[in-house]
Parts: sequence; structure tokens; C-alpha cells
Amino acid sequence: MASIYSRIIATGSALPERVVTNADLEKIVDTSDEWIRSRTGIGQRHIAADGETTGDLAFLAAQRALEAAGVKASELDLIVLGTTTPDIIFPSTACLVQHRLGANGCAAFDVNAACSGFVYALGVADKFIKSGQTKKALVIGAETLTRMVDWTERETCVLFGDGAGAVVLEASSEPGIHATCLHADGGFKELLYNPVGVSVGFKDEPNHGVRIRMSGREVFKVAVKTLDALVDETLKAAGMDESQLDWLIPHQANLRIIEATAKRLHMSMDQVIVTVDKHANTSSGSVPLALDYAVRSGKVQRGQNLLLEAFGGGFTWASALLRY
Ligand code: ACO
Repeated sequence: MASIYSRIIATGSALPERVVTNADLEKIVDTSDEWIRSRTGIGQRHIAADGETTGDLAFLAAQRALEAAGVKASELDLIVLGTTTPDIIFPSTACLVQHRLGANGCAAFDVNAACSGFVYALGVADKFIKSGQTKKALVIGAETLTRMVDWTERETCVLFGDGAGAVVLEASSEPGIHATCLHADGGFKELLYNPVGVSVGFKDEPNHGVRIRMSGREVFKVAVKTLDALVDETLKAAGMDESQLDWLIPHQANLRIIEATAKRLHMSMDQVIVTVDKHANTSSGSVPLALDYAVRSGKVQRGQNLLLEAFGGGFTWASALLRY
């Protein structure tokens, strides 16, 4: 029997209107544009308006992807949405978006893998398509991570932004996604986490204790080492070597982490999609936002090989190597 692949047929994305520059942050915490740019590569970030939710951004990104694909929402068999900042506890944000799109009836669920959420969701949807059960899937990465930022803590507040991206996947006899690799190690929980929730309870603190706790330097070190091993594993799983890669589309957390991965792959920075300067770290939104930018700006062309990768809280880490 011929192999079934999942192919990305179109992309879409959405960003909140409001832009906050490093200079704006200089006014609220003891930081500088120079410090933020040199340590992270970030110049600005988009921040959701009051009342604007993860689901709003996800819906817009999904609409744009479906429109570019020429696919009706009613044709979808599956919606998988990566997020760690859902609108409400339940129903899932995937269900909220499904109803707004008019795709009622298809399977729809969220995946929480922190910053790796979109790549995890892509890996899951790929398996559904490869099984033969799903013909068309919508995969979304969407976050309003700034809702859990403490704006008095300079170590973290400069790093994050809000946004969403989406892709439409279709079953095809042509590749398509060659390989996905998904991993987690919950032993690293304490290095990057948000320790409150429905079951544990909330704290008598500002924002009920909903606040990102991060050991930045340790996260940085483990991220670089883990991503090095991940890209090797992914190439091997796809039966390819690094010279066959056209583009690296990495999670946009920190330019120095991105540069280290590119170096490991012997890729020039001209072959790397960088949006961290404009979007900061949008967690699950980051890879599909970068992909949509790359497609719509004409950088990524049909037939090219793309390596997508991400790393985040959990720790989780994930990759996808695909022919666009
Ligand atoms: N402005 C000015 N100074 C600052 C700021 C700031 N915003 N934040 C920290 N500093 C100071 C610190 O207080 C420290 O001062 P000290 O030397 O007097 O003690 C100094 O800068 C150096 O701090 P470090 O934390 O050692 O700086 P580092 O070079 O490690 O950069 C950073 C920090 C940017 C957080 C980096 O470690 C990083 O990017 N880590 C990865 C974390 C990450 O990306 N997390 C996101 C989620 S996970 C993921 O997506 C990969």
C-alpha cells in the first residue's frame, strides 16, 4: 500500500495590534534596549488587548490559513491546538475555535507542551493523518503568555509576547512531513514553571500567583544541549543529512539559542527564519508565526525542506522535518 504523508497546504497567523518596544519597558523596569537586544535578540513584542484571548488570536490565524488553503471549515476532520494559556479551563480552546469556525463535529482538543505546543500538535496531527483516519487537519499554536508575566520582574517580563499561527494539513501520497520527534523530561519542572492551578490551588498574591518562574541561565544551557541532540535525531529519523535542509524554523525564544542550533547544523543565518526581534517569545505561537512569515514573505518555496524545532517548560522538546 502506498505511504500516506501529511502535507502543509497553507499557513496563517495573527498578532495583537499593540506593540511594546524595549524602550517602553525601560519605563517600567530597570532594563535597557541594549541589554535585551544583546542577551536575547528581542526588539519588541505584541501584547493582547484587555479582553483579547488566545482563542481570538487562534481563530484569526485559523481563518487566514483556511482561506489561503481554499478549504472550508466543514471539511476539517481534526483540530489540534497547542497552548499553555487556554481561554478558560474547559471547554478546550480548540473546541471554542472549532465552533467559531463552523467546523462542529470534528475531533478537537488542546495540547499543553509549553513552548513546544505547536510542534507537539503537528506531530499528533501527522499521526492521525498517517493512520488514514484523518484527511484534513487544522493545527494551531496560540498563546497570550503575557497574561502570566509579572511586569515588575525584569528577568522575565522582557522575554515574552502574544500571538498565534496555524497550518492546514492534508493527506497526500507525496511528502509532506518526513519525521517528527517529541520528547519530555518532567524532572526539569523547577527550572521553568507556573506553580498554581485548579487542583493545587492559587496563592494570595498578585494575579493569584499566576506568574512564570524561570532559572534563565540553566534553561539556556539545557536548551542548547538538548536541541543539538534533537536536530541530529530528526535528520536520522528522516534519513537525511544537514546539506539537504533549506531552512531552519526554530522556536523564537532567544537569538543566541537559535544561532547555536544553526551552527551545529552548519547552516548560515541566511537559512534561518528569525522573528524573535519582532515577536519575542510567543511560546506555542512562535514556530507557526515564523513559518507563516517565511511563507508569505516568499522566503520558503514549495519543494524546500524545513526543519522546525522547539523547546520549553516541562521540559519538552520537539521537531518536524518536512518538505513544504
Ligand atoms: N535588564 C537588565 N539586566 C537584567 C535583566 C534585564 N531585563 N534581566 C536580568 N538582568 C541582570 C541580572 O540581574 C544579572 O545581573 P548581575 O550580574 O548583577 O546578577 C545579569 O543581568 C545577568 O543575568 P543572567 O540571568 O545571567 O543573564 P543571561 O545572560 O543568562 O541572560 C536570559 C538571561 C536572557 C534570560 C537567558 O538566560 C535566556 O534567554 N535563557 C533562556 C530562557 C528562555 O528563553 N526562557 C523562555 C522559555 S523556554 C524557551 O523557550 C527556551
